[in-house]
Amino acid sequence: NQGKNLDENSKDQQLEQFRVDNEEKKMTTNQGLKVSNDEDSLKAGVRGPTIMEDFHFREKMTHFDHERIPERVVHARGFAAHGEFELYESMKEYTKAGFLQDPNKKTPVFVRFSTVVGSLGSMDTARDVRGFATKFYTDEGNYDLVGNNIPVFFIQDAIKFPDLIHAVKPEPHNEMPQAASAHDTFWDFVANNQEIAHMIMWHMSDRAIPRSFRMMEGFGVHAFRFVNDKGKSRFVKFHWKPVLGVHSLVWDEAQIIAGKDPDFQRRDLWESIEIGDYPEYELGVQMLEPEDEFKFDFDILDATKLWPEEIVPVKKIGKMTLNRNVDNVFAETEQVAFHPGNVVPGIDFTNDPLLQGRLFSYLDTQLIRLGGPNFAEIPINRPVCPIHNNQRNGFSRQTINVGKVSYHKNSLANNSPSTSTAREGGFVHYEEKVEGRITRARSKSFDDHFSQARLFWNSMSPPERQHIIDAFSFEVGKVKSKSVRQQVVDMFVRVDKAMATTVADNIGVNRPKGEQVNVTLSSPALSQANTIKMPQ
Ligand code: HEM
Repeated sequence: NQGKNLDENSKDQQLEQFRVDNEEKKMTTNQGLKVSNDEDSLKAGVRGPTIMEDFHFREKMTHFDHERIPERVVHARGFAAHGEFELYESMKEYTKAGFLQDPNKKTPVFVRFSTVVGSLGSMDTARDVRGFATKFYTDEGNYDLVGNNIPVFFIQDAIKFPDLIHAVKPEPHNEMPQAASAHDTFWDFVANNQEIAHMIMWHMSDRAIPRSFRMMEGFGVHAFRFVNDKGKSRFVKFHWKPVLGVHSLVWDEAQIIAGKDPDFQRRDLWESIEIGDYPEYELGVQMLEPEDEFKFDFDILDATKLWPEEIVPVKKIGKMTLNRNVDNVFAETEQVAFHPGNVVPGIDFTNDPLLQGRLFSYLDTQLIRLGGPNFAEIPINRPVCPIHNNQRNGFSRQTINVGKVSYHKNSLANNSPSTSTAREGGFVHYEEKVEGRITRARSKSFDDHFSQARLFWNSMSPPERQHIIDAFSFEVGKVKSKSVRQQVVDMFVRVDKAMATTVADNIGVNRPKGEQVNVTLSSPALSQANTIKMPQ
């Protein structure tokens, strides 16, 4: 693909060279030898034993025996589609990202939706967070926006992620329950890691049982940075807004569908694309000037907090259309490797301690999941722009690097980067000033775990509140440990006393004694809203 003209079909053109169909092709071995018989193994006599010499049998069976790769450690069950992204207006003022400059330019994308907890064969309609991961194949390299359908997260620091997932996944002694939060370790984790409160309110709400991938929002969750060509940076949060609006199932529907059609959501996505009813999502950004970083009563780097849209409006900057199903689920959906660290010039990271840890985890897991260091050469993962570096060798290397130089600096190949990579359009990390003592301490600004949980509850309509109470009662009601059930209602009294009391009555524990945290829309941060200058 190197050197080809790049247009909106360029990813498709690139994939074309790897597509092979089976029709009317005569069967051969992997060595190209014509196969004479694919039904009978080679035997010593028609009723005798199979003999070692049967290389065709051995090759066929060995390949079959090795068909499985590990499923993702989280987000194992997913479904994906191709599409394109179009910008509404140039974002040049805010970011130098090439794909956000020209409204006439279309950028190919690949999107994978997923559940988090269940294994590859679990049901689509589980109560769970949904992944919403987008790979933009830009002319400057792949940019991955690896988001979820809920704007906040369970924990604040990446070091707790293995604990979260160990608690959330099926319990190790009996591998139950599959794809459900109705079990002891999940709720024990909740009660003992209370920064989770806000996320759990979303998790118990209808947002965790979306009707369709086409009717889900997506959120980058973390604060990222936009950096423009003058080097000015602003904080940014990314949003996907489905053009069809946000719609959910109700719990009874979700359970019935799980039995009748466990593929409900992948079927819905597949069929809507097959009939040309293409799913569409608008990309929105919330931007904050650096001088407004400390004007909120929460920390804008805390991934358990959202930036209220009334104060920091979402500016819609473009639209993504999913218009082509995959040719092969394994080759594309399973082998795609998203990574929040895949950025392009103009988009950069912040010190959110959850994001910082993610930057390590994805590449690390993909090295084992996709069989070694060459998975960027798998067709779905290849950028559409030229790649060149000094990497070589490793399992399943595809590229045939020609010549003898694979090191910098050199005089033989004349390809060393100049000392100023910035002048060449190379990625230069934002020069954020950092200072402090090395410590494992957590910033006090991350300490408030209940205000936004309560704002969420306050924003719900009566039927939505009833659904949340029903979900708590169903999920926590299945917890065997009475102590854990009690701890949960004692915790959620801090969100709403009436809610926690009703749940306590429903699940057979004592009514909680504590008090709710009374935060309302007149909280200090919100009253400062008129001093916050919005990027226009
Ligand atoms: C997948 C780690 C937080 C969204 C994964 C995978 C790992 C992982 C190891 C499997 C990747 C693969 O096998 O290719 C982590 C860690 C986190 C974290 C350590 C926090 C410290 C988040 C957050 C979001 C998110 C906050 C959303 C904003 C996703 C999505 C996928 C995923 C959408 C599936 C990507 C796909 O479809 O292939 N994560 N994750 N994760 N994660 Fe995270």
